This record gives sequence, structure tokens and C-alpha cells, in this order.
Amino acid sequence: MKTRVALAIAGLLLFVAPASYSETNSVPFPEGYRNWLHAKSMLIQPGHALENPFQGIHHIYANGKAAKGLKSGSYADGSVLVFDLLNYEEKDKTIQEGKRKLVGVMHKDAAKYASTGGWGFEGFAGDSKTERLVTDGGKSCFDCHTAQKAKDFVFSELRD
Ligand code: HEC
Repeated sequence: MKTRVALAIAGLLLFVAPASYSETNSVPFPEGYRNWLHAKSMLIQPGHALENPFQGIHHIYANGKAAKGLKSGSYADGSVLVFDLLNYEEKDKTIQEGKRKLVGVMHKDAAKYASTGGWGFEGFAGDSKTERLVTDGGKSCFDCHTAQKAKDFVFSELRD
């Protein structure tokens, strides 16, 4: 009986134990981002410093809070920016969108992501909403974005 109670308590403790870092801090997939503000687009060609892994056509989207941030230069918690990266193909003297390579995400939560400038960084492979690409807690993403410290670590600028 005692063992059973002990086991039950141990089971309960396991159940209520805090979730691991990656579970509590994982950046959610940005559902519905194709309906957000389209900030800008860019084509990155072979030979560019960002070629690996960012060669392709990308479109940058901002949710409501991030759209305000693009104007003011500082971002409230809940701001989300998306880097939607597609392959491209040349066809009849045009450059056309191909299959999606990845969806890059920056999700602002100053307390949760304090070690990476208040932004959670994540990449989702291809069309997957669950296959995550970032394995270092966003450190390597942040190391490059840190150049934009004066603009709250964001490169993009809004155009009319
Ligand atoms: C070597 C530098 C570099 C690295 C590493 C990098 N980025 Fe970026 N990122 C950029 C640049 C430059 C832009 C602006 C692109 C543009 O103007 O269209 C950008 C733009 C973005 C944006 C749109 C918001 C903004 O800042 O303009 C997101 C979201 C983003 N990156 C996510 C990521 C994620 C997630 C990672 C890591 C998996 C990452 N980035 C790694 C250079 C980098």
C-alpha cells in the first residue's frame, strides 16, 4: 500500500513537473500570416552572404503589433514577423515563385526571450507547421540580427 501511494505521488510529481525549456519557449507557428501586412520582398541569388540557407524569394509579413513596430522602431510583446522563403525558377524571361523552403519567424516576448533580444527565433521547414529548424535556441539567428540593435533587431523597413 505504502509503495502504491509513493508511486502515485511520484507519478503526480512527474505530471506537474515544469515543462522543458524548449516546450515552454517554443515559438508558435504563425497561423494566418498570409493575411497580414506584406512589408517587403527580396530575391537572394547564389553567391550572396545569406545564400545558405536563405537563397530564394522571400516575402516579409507583419502582424498588427509588428506593423506598428515597423513604423515606430520598437515592438510590443506579441509582435510577430515572418520571413516566407520560396524557391524560384527562371521561365520565359521571368522569375517565378517555386515551392516553399522555410518559414522564418520572430516572435516578441521580452521576458521569455530575454537572452535573444526579446525575440524568439524559429524556422519551420517547407510547408510544415511542426518541423522546427532552430536547434540552438535562436542564438545563431540573433547573432546576425544583433547588427540591427538600434531598430529592435529588425532589418526590414516599411514602404508605402
Ligand atoms: C547572416 C545574417 C542573418 C541570419 C543568420 C539570420 N537572419 Fe533573419 N534577416 C537577415 C536580413 C538581412 C533580413 C532582412 C531581409 C530583407 O530585408 O528582406 C532578415 C530578416 C528576417 C525576418 C524579417 C524581420 C526583419 O528583421 O527584417 C525574420 C522573421 C527573420 N529574418 C528570421 C530569422 C531567423 C528565424 C533566423 C535563424 C534561423 C535568421 N533570421 C537568421 C539576416 C539574417
